[in-house]
Amino acid sequence: MKINVVILAIFSMGLSVASIAEDMMPNPSHNIAYPVGWKNWATIAVSHRIDNHTLRVILGNEIAVKAARSGQTRPWPDGAILGKVVWKEDKLKDWNTAIAPGKFVHAEFMFKDAKKYTATHGWGWARWVGTQQTPFNKGTQVCIACHTPVKNRDWVYTDPALFPKSIP
Ligand code: HEC
Repeated sequence: MKINVVILAIFSMGLSVASIAEDMMPNPSHNIAYPVGWKNWATIAVSHRIDNHTLRVILGNEIAVKAARSGQTRPWPDGAILGKVVWKEDKLKDWNTAIAPGKFVHAEFMFKDAKKYTATHGWGWARWVGTQQTPFNKGTQVCIACHTPVKNRDWVYTDPALFPKSIP
């Protein structure tokens, strides 16, 4: 009897945690679910756009980082997710020739699955805007049009940054 009550209590706690998480989850972008956990992914490269004054970090999930570190990027393997996170550039307060990330702009992702995404060149394309992570749903074509110059590089601009190889 007592055990049943405890089990019931644990069960309903679990349910409410699950529903809170669901409420906070951003809606899909281009029918793609939000890639939970991307803030803890590892770095593949960084870039600085001098025309629109933004800093970017290019991240990958485990499959993408492994591929990047071992040069398996033509094509990228199925299951790889590349992320690009963009901030407005700012000055580092205590060293004003250093550029630092300021206002958060957006996070966008390419999901590799050659079969599932055949119609969009083997990638699913999605973006979430601002700190509220509002889904961008203006159409994958916007992304593809701008990535067309690199269609021979599996649609990816970034070359993984060099990292020291000999040290784990
Ligand atoms: C105005 C042109 C343009 C548009 C539109 C655009 N991209 Fe990109 N994208 C780039 C460029 C250039 C890079 C190279 C790195 C950078 O921007 O710092 C890039 C890089 C990326 C990267 C990192 C991997 C790579 O290719 O280097 C991802 C992920 C990405 N874009 C996703 C998207 C998604 C998703 C969309 C649509 C919602 C999109 N992009 C729309 C130009 C664009």
